[in-house]
Amino acid sequence: MQAYEQLQYDLELKSKLPVTPDWSAAADFLMLIKEYCLNEKPVNIVECSSGLTTIILTRCCQLNECGRVYSLENGKQYQLQTLQNLKAFQLENYADTIYAPLEEVVINNLSYDWYKTDDLPNVKIDMLVIDGPPGLIQKHSRMPALPVLFEHMADISTVFLDDAARNEEKAIVDMWLGLHTGISHEYIETERGCSVLRINKT
Ligand SMILES: C[S@@+](CC[C@H](N)C(=O)[O-])C[C@H]1O[C@@H](n2cnc3c(N)ncnc32)[C@H](O)[C@@H]1O
Repeated sequence: MQAYEQLQYDLELKSKLPVTPDWSAAADFLMLIKEYCLNEKPVNIVECSSGLTTIILTRCCQLNECGRVYSLENGKQYQLQTLQNLKAFQLENYADTIYAPLEEVVINNLSYDWYKTDDLPNVKIDMLVIDGPPGLIQKHSRMPALPVLFEHMADISTVFLDDAARNEEKAIVDMWLGLHTGISHEYIETERGCSVLRINKT
């Protein structure tokens, strides 16, 4: 069985997942976040970039009978597409797909374009999934995710960073570990690499 079909089977989804080659998260990354979500039942999930990740996470919330996904998406057409896909899977009640255009944020005197967070509700984030913005936009594109959201992370929370095999993502993880205390890091060998950061603020 192909990996995406395995996910469809595991989550008892009635239709095929709308995979966009080259842009959708790889199936093994989706498997990891699915397993975590079903086991740990996070209440507030924030994701940076919408798409297949949103379908998988919302379906887990539906099966868990708890949890909500707040999905930041800078492309209006991709936000609408994700909403349409959620409706097709009858999962729209488990997510807020938030149109979040990129805006300037300055961290350690360096400027980045990152998601506008004005429409993100003030919740304690139990699980953060980072699969955007795309790396081609700028150097260290995903760097702002943790510094911007750290104060909103729950005392015990977990971050999943996709594409962690890339040198830029490795550098981003090093920067995060230098900036914040109380984080442990595990690298998982997936097709594109996954960094899991466990936060303990207690
Ligand atoms: C790597 S994609 C990840 C999307 C999502 N997490 C998923 O698993 O499907 C990151 C971003 O690329 C953009 N994107 C998605 N499809 C695209 C396409 N076909 N061409 C250009 N950009 C795209 C969207 O803004 C999306 O948020």
